[in-house]
Amino acid sequence: MKPVRNVVWAALSGAGIALCFASIAAAAGSPVEDRQAAMKHVGQTMKEATAFTSAATPYDAAKVKGLMDGLAADAKKLKGLYPASSAADPKTAADPKVFANKADFDKRLAEMGTLAATAGKAKDTDSFKAAFKPVGDTCKSCHDIYRMKKKPA
Ligand code: HEC
Repeated sequence: MKPVRNVVWAALSGAGIALCFASIAAAAGSPVEDRQAAMKHVGQTMKEATAFTSAATPYDAAKVKGLMDGLAADAKKLKGLYPASSAADPKTAADPKVFANKADFDKRLAEMGTLAATAGKAKDTDSFKAAFKPVGDTCKSCHDIYRMKKKPA
């Protein structure tokens, strides 16, 4: 359920502002809430960016760069949102392996960021499509190892 004020913001200012608002609200939460909000933002960004892999969407290099730079920033931010103290939080879907293998986990986040920044430099649909695919691959390969099925809150 969305807080009413988010809905109002969305209606007034469009989904972009509502998303920013959601991130600001999340910044006051626990590391688990913050990283789940950041991952949701990552998911939303991927959805928006996927449109630009289709010839049906006129390619917009500035928009794509903004989305991909946003992903790179999220990857950086996420790195700091897995303190060891949050490993046993009942709300997290992060596998305990994250905290045991933090260096590998961080490396995967960094790779996601680097690949996103590279994809953001694409000049047309075809080159973006090729550069964007490996970004998406990082989601699944990490989730396969480090994400458990979400526990009921
Ligand atoms: C380095 C590992 C890693 C990478 C890379 C990664 N994720 Fe995640 N993701 C996780 C973990 C761990 C969780 C569970 C977080 C928690 O519950 O504390 C998660 C959770 C999520 C969630 C659920 C958030 C919620 O509502 O609780 C979404 C959506 C998501 N990831 C999308 C993505 C997408 C899209 C990408 C690729 C662009 C991606 N992730 C890349 C590790 C990763």
